[in-house]
Amino acid sequence: MSSVVIVGAQWGDEGKGKIVDIYMEFADVVVRYAGGPNAGHTLVVGDEKIVVRLLPSGILRERTHCILGQGMVIDTEVLLGEIDELHRRGHSNLEARLSLSDRAHLILPYHVLIDTLREGSAPADKALGTTKKGIGPAYEDKVKRVGVRCGDLRDLKAMSARIAYAMAAWEPTVRALGGELPSLQSVMAKLEAHAARIVPMLAHTSELVDDAIKAGKRVMLEGAQGTLLDIDHGTYPFVTSSSAGAGGAASGAGIGPNRIGTVIGITKAYTTRVGTGPFPTELDDSDGKHLREVGAEFGSVTGRPRRTGWLDLPGLRYASRVNGIDGLALTKLDVLTGMERIRVCVAYDTPQGRVTSLPIDQLDPPGQITPVYVEMPGWKERLEGVRVLDDLPANARAYVRFIEEQAGAPVYLVSVGPRRSETIMLHNPFVGRAAAP
Ligand code: IMP
Repeated sequence: MSSVVIVGAQWGDEGKGKIVDIYMEFADVVVRYAGGPNAGHTLVVGDEKIVVRLLPSGILRERTHCILGQGMVIDTEVLLGEIDELHRRGHSNLEARLSLSDRAHLILPYHVLIDTLREGSAPADKALGTTKKGIGPAYEDKVKRVGVRCGDLRDLKAMSARIAYAMAAWEPTVRALGGELPSLQSVMAKLEAHAARIVPMLAHTSELVDDAIKAGKRVMLEGAQGTLLDIDHGTYPFVTSSSAGAGGAASGAGIGPNRIGTVIGITKAYTTRVGTGPFPTELDDSDGKHLREVGAEFGSVTGRPRRTGWLDLPGLRYASRVNGIDGLALTKLDVLTGMERIRVCVAYDTPQGRVTSLPIDQLDPPGQITPVYVEMPGWKERLEGVRVLDDLPANARAYVRFIEEQAGAPVYLVSVGPRRSETIMLHNPFVGRAAAP
């Protein structure tokens, strides 16, 4: 089937932007299915570097229809700001290629305020290190059934009443946190200004996606964040508030699970995490510094330095299982160049025994583990120019093969540099064979 889910297999920031962009060459439609402006996908096209937070990465491809699905939370100010920025950079015909689900929920100014106030006042062991973009409170309102959806922008009067009701429910929380809610008038004034541009983009996107798949079009379902940040599968409570994993692709795009053909899991050749929460293979030494500096591991939304560590196979095997990963895209292999030796965590030793496939919050007691490492020799050669696996230095090739074997999924693609061309393509699910990016 011609639909492919691209899902992060770690804690996000696996390099999805580049991978989606490469496969987009072969896709007709791209759908973002979860999350909101907490994502930050860096696209590198030629010498141009663009970070998009809400727009699907496929937005730079002129012939691609981009869809923001119903599983997302949308901040209209951020969305319109991104569209305007791309217009400024000379990209045209954007709105005509963009459809926004009328069922996607809105992030409103009070959601951002509450997210920020809560993060600022939480004790150190409770703060989640959120992106402060209002994601949690917006999803909370959705589940509380007082949320406001993009489709509500069609009737601003009714919307205003819904917002007044939702804000009243937040009032005591905001006051207890020492903040002050914005006035209903100010919230509505912004939305009124945005509605004229947003409403024409609204659509029953669930139908659009299903029709596209039925018509044999090639559809890419683009995840954001990563499996270990998924509200159900992740290292709870240090997670985001959406179904970031492949399971969320069906509900977030509004299609049946049997409409999904292939699941590609993206993993870095090492691990990073932003925000708080457990990270068994975290490094606090010169190796960790190498990964952060060579890998430019700083948050694309918040600019925060990312925590860095060795590849965690128990986490990757788990991600492979809960997402049904068919193939892996291994990113940033080039960042390991120059390291004397590379370690890979193959299991966790816990008080109950050895564990090979679980996220750390499912261990009892959580946290009391010792990662079990296998050590492999590094390589010194630069990899950016390599286009076929056989041309990799022997140690780098052995590392790729080891991951493939241990994760139980074949490697479809290896990224050896930030540029689109710096890629080894082994399998392309849209064409069924290797294809040059
Ligand atoms: P929130 O999604 O802003 O509520 O943040 C919850 C957790 O998810 C925090 O640890 C964030 O750092 C993390 N997070 C959210 N979005 C991303 C992302 O795109 N990449 C990496 N981490 C993220």
